[in-house]
Amino acid sequence: MNLILLGPPGAGKGTQAKLLIKRFQIPQISTGDILRAAVSEMTPMGVKAKGYMESGALVPDEVVVGIVRERLEKNDCLNGFILDGFPRTVAQADALKHMLVCMNMSIEHVVSMAVDKEELLQRITGRRTCRLCGKGYHVVFDPPSVSGRCDECSGELFQRDDDQEETMRKRLDVYEDQTAPLITYYENESLLRSIAGVGSIDDIQQRILSIIQGTHG
Ligand code: AP5
Repeated sequence: MNLILLGPPGAGKGTQAKLLIKRFQIPQISTGDILRAAVSEMTPMGVKAKGYMESGALVPDEVVVGIVRERLEKNDCLNGFILDGFPRTVAQADALKHMLVCMNMSIEHVVSMAVDKEELLQRITGRRTCRLCGKGYHVVFDPPSVSGRCDECSGELFQRDDDQEETMRKRLDVYEDQTAPLITYYENESLLRSIAGVGSIDDIQQRILSIIQGTHG
């Protein structure tokens, strides 16, 4: 199963991807996670990406396309993968199409998750992430049992630098400008499946599963 999760910041792409990878035993390829790791390790790519990410802008296409190409070449992608946060521009979508043809692979579904702006802001400003295992929480909608600590590994929970309200608003504008056109792009490729990204995390997972099970029952 090769799947793209498409949606604005805070739509729940990462939350849903983590449930899907457990169920299907395939990797999640999150360009945001890969870039954040590079920033914290201060690799040359991380140093280049840092300023863009902190301001809420997109990292240049050639950087992220290179990341994804390298990741898709790994053997664990042979049985499928979930792209979370990529592609984000028409140029990235074109590059993906080209690289998948060269690898003899293809995308089966693009699931577009719609959530209104006010809810996105609430979700993002309340998001917390475990510093050790990366598990995501929300202070109101999906809180940990012990405040500030991860349920799985007791790691410290932190707030992402780009989750402050001002940066978040910029990220939403960037989404509208540069990423939302991919909805039409994938409609034209007959790959787009749209779902409401509101409701419980489990309900949304069921909506995605029913799309996948249309071909993977
Ligand atoms: P990235 O990390 O990809 O961020 P994003 O796309 O902005 O998405 P988020 O991670 O903010 O949200 P999400 O949809 O995964 O939501 P989540 O599941 O966490 O990118 C960060 C930056 O990296 C970019 O700004 C850019 O600079 C750079 N970058 C990355 N990829 C790039 C690319 N391809 N090209 C160029 N630059 C790139 O959920 C959010 C919160 O809501 C959580 O707290 C969660 O618990 C809660 N929640 C989830 N579902 C529900 C629900 N159903 N009800 C209530 N709360 C919920």
